[in-house]
Amino acid sequence: MEHTNKTGFSTKLGVIMAAAGSAVGLGNIWKFPYVAGENGGGAFLIVYLLCVLLFGLPLLTTELLIGKRSGRSVYGAFRALRGNSRWQWLSWWCIASAFIIMGFYFVVTGWCGNYLYEAVLNTYTGMDAAQLTAHFSDVVSSTPRMILCGLVPVLMTAAVLWFDVNKGIERMSKLLMPLLLIMMVVMAVRALMLPGSGEGLRFLFRFDFGRITPQVVMMAVGQCFFSLSVGTGALITYGAYMPKQQSEARTALQVALLDTLVAVLAGVVIFPAVFSFGYDPAEGPQLVFVVLPSILQQMSFSWLSGVLFFLLLFIAALTSTISLMEIAVASLCEASHDRLNRHQSVLIVTAITTVLVILCVLSPRLFSWSDRLVTTILMPLGALSMSLFVGWFMPRLHPALTFALRWIVPAAILLIFLNGLGVL
Ligand code: TRP
Repeated sequence: MEHTNKTGFSTKLGVIMAAAGSAVGLGNIWKFPYVAGENGGGAFLIVYLLCVLLFGLPLLTTELLIGKRSGRSVYGAFRALRGNSRWQWLSWWCIASAFIIMGFYFVVTGWCGNYLYEAVLNTYTGMDAAQLTAHFSDVVSSTPRMILCGLVPVLMTAAVLWFDVNKGIERMSKLLMPLLLIMMVVMAVRALMLPGSGEGLRFLFRFDFGRITPQVVMMAVGQCFFSLSVGTGALITYGAYMPKQQSEARTALQVALLDTLVAVLAGVVIFPAVFSFGYDPAEGPQLVFVVLPSILQQMSFSWLSGVLFFLLLFIAALTSTISLMEIAVASLCEASHDRLNRHQSVLIVTAITTVLVILCVLSPRLFSWSDRLVTTILMPLGALSMSLFVGWFMPRLHPALTFALRWIVPAAILLIFLNGLGVL
């Protein structure tokens, strides 16, 4: 595949940053707090951390390995490694998952864009908790506005891919990732200074084992996959661009650490504020969009802080959408045997994505259904299949990894999901 060499990353740090850019996004800052809030806080967090260790690390390694050894896109990776197309369905599974994620992910990226725009205009200064909640409903119920907000990031993502992977992603991630971390630490400090913040910390860090239910476990596994971008082949795509001497296990560890740090930090920003301002932790998908403006208003340089934060959040979302769209674009090029060039593939994928985003704006049910489908079924089963694939068919792995991928990871995922769905 000629695209492998042409778009290879120039440095090891570049790959880590791009993979981390894929992982760190709305999953950490939007989804983690609201899912943790709905599933008991501390009980959820402890299960989540265990999932990252038990599933996240081996599966990140797995995807990078598949990409690096095959040098292919998601479309061609499994057939190249097996020498036949018996596993081709898994490629389609991954590509379909990526499209379904894009449908709702761009909508939420659009919410961020909207809040960024309003931060610039100072719209929510002076609003209290009730007004911010009402404001969020106003925003999302304006269909034309939401379509516009959703499509702007689609076009921005397409533009980055149009002009080639490494230049765009590498440069952007290297600069902005550290900035996002710093900003979140500052906000966490501010949130901890709010009156009554201790209750939020207790909510997030009190490991009440009695609250761990099959449902909590299932949501935690799903969230772990979603947040690490595992199970859709995003890291297969980046693994193919990896310098040959780079270790996939070490890269996996670095990505998992960074991603988990950002998620926990998001919790430390959100939950103290939730309790201090009297919100409900189980508020649902709007949670961070009502809580964050409340915190930002209390900060010094509140205009600047608000603009900077939503800008960084928007960009963190974009580095994830870039990797999502790249799954489809690289696959389409390869599936057409390079009859479609990169630019044509970008156009086709953008057109399909546009339709999906509009559908998700028009139908809130489709929106939440896609989110659930992806986290509870598509990503876990994709990950399970990749685990079996690598465990059984890839030689020259560490024996412990082979054992885990053959038996432990698949069995555990299966059990958790049958149990969570109430089948057992
Ligand atoms: N991990 C991303 C986030 O936390 C979302 C995501 C899920 C993703 N699956 C993906 C990103 C696949 C890229 C590719 O926001």
